[in-house]
Amino acid sequence: MLDISQIRNECPACENIIHFNNAGCSLSPLPVTDAIIEHLKLEQQLGGYEAAEAAADKIENFYHALATLLNCDPTEIAYLENSTRAWDMALHSIELQAGDQIITGDMEYVSNYLGLLRLAKLKQIEIKVVPSDSIGQIDLDLLRKAITDRTRLIALTHVASQRGDIQPAQTVGKIAREYEIFYLLDACQSVGQINLDIAEIGCDFLCGSGRKYLRGPRGTGFLYVRKSRLQQLNPIFVDLHAACWNDPEHYQWRADAKRFENWERYVAGQIGLGVAADYANSIGLDAIRARVEALANRLQQRLRAIHGISVHERSDELSGIVTFNQQDEDAIRLRRRLHAKNINISVAKQANARLDLAQSGVGDVNRASVHYFNTEAEIDRFVQTVAQS
Ligand SMILES: Cc1ncc(COP(=O)(O)O)c(C=O)c1O
Repeated sequence: MLDISQIRNECPACENIIHFNNAGCSLSPLPVTDAIIEHLKLEQQLGGYEAAEAAADKIENFYHALATLLNCDPTEIAYLENSTRAWDMALHSIELQAGDQIITGDMEYVSNYLGLLRLAKLKQIEIKVVPSDSIGQIDLDLLRKAITDRTRLIALTHVASQRGDIQPAQTVGKIAREYEIFYLLDACQSVGQINLDIAEIGCDFLCGSGRKYLRGPRGTGFLYVRKSRLQQLNPIFVDLHAACWNDPEHYQWRADAKRFENWERYVAGQIGLGVAADYANSIGLDAIRARVEALANRLQQRLRAIHGISVHERSDELSGIVTFNQQDEDAIRLRRRLHAKNINISVAKQANARLDLAQSGVGDVNRASVHYFNTEAEIDRFVQTVAQS
C-alpha cells in the first residue's frame, strides 16, 4: 500500500494545485529538488569541476539507479539532456545504406518522426508506417508483413504523447529479435509509471526524459543501449569523453554506453535524476502502476459520464494519460479555464500528431495525465470543473 499522505507531504505543490500534467512535466519530490540544490551550492562553494569530483559517488549512483529501474547493467546507461536527443543518438549510430527500411507506428512521437523524415532525405531511407489496430496498438500482423530483408530498425513509442494506449512493446521485441532487426523503444511517457524490464522487452535502445513520470528535473534524459550491440554502433557525435584520441589520426570509442554521452552536462540534473529513479524504485513500479491505472480508470469513467465529452483511448489497459474533447468547448479554452482554477492539464495538438489526430479528424485534444500522488478527490473536483463549461 502506498502512503499517499507521506508522498504528498514530499510534494509541496500538491497543497495548492491539481497537477494532471504529469505527461508534460511532473512534480519532483523534495529529495530530488534537495539533491539538485545541494549540488548547485557545492558548485558555488568549490567550483564546478571540483564539485563534480566531490560528488563522484552521486553521479555514479545515476547509472545504478537507472539500471535497477530498467533491469539492465549500469554500463548500458548513458545520460543525455532529453529524450529526443537520446533517440536521435541511437538512430544515427546505426550504419544505414540507401534503400534500407525503418518501420515505425502511427503513434510515433512528433520529433522522432521528424528525425526519420530528415534521415530519409539524407540517406534515401524508406520509412514504413504500420497503422494501429482497433484498440490503438500497432497492428502486429501488418508489422510482420512490413518486414523485408532491407528492414534495419523498428522504432516504437511505448505510450504516445497524444493518446494513452500502451503499445505491445514486448511482443514487438520478440518480432525484432526473430528477424534480427534493431529495436528502439521511446519510453518517454512510460518510464516511471510502467515497470520496464529490458530483459523482457528485448529492445536494443530505450530512451526517456527525467521530467515526466520519473519526476526528475527538466533538461535531463537517458539512453539504454544493449551491451552486445555496442561494437556495431558509431554515435554521430564524438567528444573527448565518448572516445579516446589514441594518436593524431585515430580514436577509439569507449567500451560502454557512455560513448553516447557529452562530456559537458548538467551535473546537478544528473544527480537529481538518479535520486528520482531511486525514489521510484523505493516506492516500487508495480505499486505505482496499479495506482496510476486505478486513477486513470476512475478519471475515464467519470469523464465518459459527462454529456458532450468523448474520451479517445481505445484499449482496456490504461496508462496515466487520458485524452478527451468537450464538444462545446475548444481544447485550449478548456485548458485555460482549468488553469485559472489551479488545475493543470495540457493540449495535444493535431499538428504534432499528423499520423493520428490529424488523420482521424479528432483535432486538438485535452490531455489529463495522472500520477500516483494524485487522489480520487482531485479527480472528482477536476471532473466537476470540466462539466461546468
Ligand atoms: C512519447 C514522447 N517521446 C519523446 C518526447 C520528447 O521528450 P523530450 O522533450 O525530453 O525530448 C515526448 C515529449 O513529450 C513524448 O511524449
